[in-house]
Amino acid sequence: MTNFTSISDVTDLNALIHEGLYVKKHPFADQALGKNKTIGLIFFNSSLRTRLSTQKAAQNLGMNVMIMNVGQDSWGLEMEEGIIMNADKAEHVKEAAAVIGRYCDMIGIRAFAELKDREKDYREQVLTQFQKYAGVPIVNLESATRHPLQSLADCITIEEFKVKRRPKVVLTWLPHFKPLPQAVANSFCEWMNHMDVELVVTHPQGYELAPEFVGHALVTHNQNEAFEGADFIYGKNWSSYTHYGQVLTQDPTWMVTMDKLRLTDNGKFMHCLPVRRNMKVTDEVLDSPQSLVIEQAANREWSAQAVLKTLLHGME
Ligand code: CP
Repeated sequence: MTNFTSISDVTDLNALIHEGLYVKKHPFADQALGKNKTIGLIFFNSSLRTRLSTQKAAQNLGMNVMIMNVGQDSWGLEMEEGIIMNADKAEHVKEAAAVIGRYCDMIGIRAFAELKDREKDYREQVLTQFQKYAGVPIVNLESATRHPLQSLADCITIEEFKVKRRPKVVLTWLPHFKPLPQAVANSFCEWMNHMDVELVVTHPQGYELAPEFVGHALVTHNQNEAFEGADFIYGKNWSSYTHYGQVLTQDPTWMVTMDKLRLTDNGKFMHCLPVRRNMKVTDEVLDSPQSLVIEQAANREWSAQAVLKTLLHGME
């Protein structure tokens, strides 16, 4: 693996999941591997889990970590090629990525979808420009269309908590008043399509995800039917892909409640966090033993460590 931008960079998913489970048991076994290596974590957007778990994972591997919030700690970065830079962005990504690539042995980038221009977002301009100009491995810390470190943590969590060989996994849309990107939902589908699970996606009409991410999942607008017999319920809000970036409904009946969880086969509730309580999912669900959200967030450390370890091995 020379970059980690999507599941396409992963040669053996099962091995990577088991690497995550291994480093969870032996977090400091590879302290020498990252000695004198530096990772730069570059954030265009806010973060709690991604920032702290990736920093911790890198430190577990003996790496140095530098973190920068673009536009707050640094100059605003221009991504367009050949543009006259007479607006608010003082530095071009050509120089910025190349310079950061001289200071760092690998670079993590977080840059969300702007949700204004679908074609532009789905082109992954920021990630692509850093890959083009940095000259070092790039780690996706959540891009416009994907969140692979989250998806790997989700795979690790499902592997740990499944009680059936082929569990039923349901991705359900949740109500929210703000337009949110499709990245987590896209990525979750993409990774689950590579797992031995029965994948069902449920959402109101108008919230169809891009077909290339949905893959072989069964799609239904009937949430209750989807929940029947499920082993894992993965909740997430996303804005419309077809009516790009729009909030088409905030229908509160899509919120996950204990009554809905009772339709499952003692199903576990998952969410990438942050989550708005009693808007997307009730207190009762989040505070119940069926909620895996803290375990899932804890596994972000091991998913990041498995990825950074694999990238460091690739640099040997
Ligand atoms: N799930 C996740 O990526 O959390 P943060 O946005 O806090 O990093």
